[in-house]
Amino acid sequence: MKIAIINGPNLNLLGKREPDVYGNTTFESYFENLKKVYPTIEFEYFQSNIEGEIISKIQEFGFSADGIILNAAAYTHTSVGIGDAVKAVPAPIVEVHISNVYQREDFRHESHISAHAMGVIVGFGLMGYELAVRSFMDKT
Ligand code: DQA
Repeated sequence: MKIAIINGPNLNLLGKREPDVYGNTTFESYFENLKKVYPTIEFEYFQSNIEGEIISKIQEFGFSADGIILNAAAYTHTSVGIGDAVKAVPAPIVEVHISNVYQREDFRHESHISAHAMGVIVGFGLMGYELAVRSFMDKT
């Protein structure tokens, strides 16, 4: 099974960025552990701060992966283009947010992705990515 993880803007700063909200762990160290826990899964990982690059990766993995885990970060709340890309591809997509966006500012309550996603996981910290992996495994 091939699962792609796509992280959006500022998630390259995990571990340094607002640790009270996003924790102290870098995504790289979390990802290394995730790969060890699920050795049979073929993972792809992509992070970008650029909207168009995220759209291109959704298009690419959306036709080649069995599932995509997408944390589009701030673009979740603003990007019609990313929402359209999620709608356009056949691969199921799980939307993940590390923080509970519903406990935060009102603008974070809107998502251009949720309506087209297989499911949404919010507020479980980095464990949300693993929960998304398990949701794909349970479907097979
Ligand atoms: C986030 C929540 C977004 O509102 C925010 O812009 C992020 C990260 C999260 O994972 O909690 O950058 O997607």
